Amino acid sequence: MDFLKVNGKKNLNGSIKISGAKNAALPLLTSTILAKNSVNISNLPNVVDIRTLLKLLGMLGASYNHDNTNISIDTISLDKTTATYDIVKTMRASILVLGPLLSRFGHCEVSLPGGCAIGQRPVDLHLKALEQMGATIVIKSGYIVANAPDGLRGATIVFDKVTVTGTENIVMAAALAKGTTTIINAAKEPEVVQLCEVIRDAGVKIEGIGTNTLTIEGTCGELLDFKDFEIIPDRIEAGTYLCVGAITNSILKIENVIPTHLDAVLNKFEEMGYMILKEPTTITICPANKISPVNIVTTEYPGFPTDMQAQFMALATMANGVSVIDEKLFENRFMHVSELVRMGADIKLNGTVATITGTPKKLLGTDVMATDLRASSALVIAALVADEETRIHRIYHLDRGYDRLEEKLTSIGADIVREKE
Ligand code: EPZ
Repeated sequence: MDFLKVNGKKNLNGSIKISGAKNAALPLLTSTILAKNSVNISNLPNVVDIRTLLKLLGMLGASYNHDNTNISIDTISLDKTTATYDIVKTMRASILVLGPLLSRFGHCEVSLPGGCAIGQRPVDLHLKALEQMGATIVIKSGYIVANAPDGLRGATIVFDKVTVTGTENIVMAAALAKGTTTIINAAKEPEVVQLCEVIRDAGVKIEGIGTNTLTIEGTCGELLDFKDFEIIPDRIEAGTYLCVGAITNSILKIENVIPTHLDAVLNKFEEMGYMILKEPTTITICPANKISPVNIVTTEYPGFPTDMQAQFMALATMANGVSVIDEKLFENRFMHVSELVRMGADIKLNGTVATITGTPKKLLGTDVMATDLRASSALVIAALVADEETRIHRIYHLDRGYDRLEEKLTSIGADIVREKE
């Protein structure tokens, strides 16, 4: 296994280009199951999760030409409808084949995605919604066995909780259903918006895109004529690199980004004393005279994203004062805390609330372990200001969602290398 060796306290400056959004690319790739034509997609991120999903789509019978950031994918020849445990266990987002497979074929078997480091991650809301659309669903030996021999029918779905992949699965299921589906309490993350826009451009009538009420008029099983499209920039990758600039008090320009996707995050940087310059496709962060503490409550978009919680916790260790972070979405998304404490951070946990007493200039490099995707990036952020060397192990977590991270950090002056254990 690889590990990252980081020597902190380097002055960083320059600019970083953001890759396509992993969490947009995943549902957009599974949506091609609904296509009657070959689909050309550009700006894919070159990360493990994308390669894992393409492996799954290939196993189902899709064919594709993929050159890391561009793909031409054809699912007409797709003839299998079982997503097996061995691949689903490596990536929970495989659940995103459930809606399109069931809607197109009237049957599918998808391994129940297990939990993960950040929580139990149930899919009960996905299944309940599909049953409301006429599917019969049983759980058999760890598999979701779904049947809708007469096709799915439109329904009014009210999600008890806002669920990103749940909304995405039902939008894709509704696209080929008979009649109209209304989703109430839908997720409205930018990644959900792009999925809706691509499906609308493929000929499905969708109202309410970007709001929490979506209305989708199904095609009664008629496959869709997809237009070519480009994946939107990864707002979480962008926020992560802004935290790199913030914690090292550098002037850092982030390119290929949509600033409005990060409003809640940029507000928190400004609350901490940083200056943020926004242009149509770039964001520049400038040093704070004095880093102020911050209070954060994670919530659904457009609120502060849970996927930025760990990164801001690392940043808060450098603030002059006490910060409080309340993680409302996932029950176990504090795995990075013990690793940051091993580096000298003063963080106390009480249920879903973390209290961080900033100790500027006091982190000390050591061996730390990545536990999940965003926790890994928090450890990199902390290592960039720690004294001496930090070695970050189990960085396969990082490789799932960050495209060429050490290359991008080296380009702005960081001392970070990947080595073999
Ligand atoms: C998506 O996960 C993202 N993954 C996550 O990003 C992100 O953290 C999360 O949304 C929240 O924004 C992808 O888009 C591939 P949810 P998802 O369903 O859809 C509960 C990353 O770092 N819930 O919106 O799985 C659930 O337990 C990853 O890139 C149910 O109870 O999250 C959670 O408390 C990590 N039943 C809340 O809803 C369900 O059926 C939100 O989960 C579904 C969800």
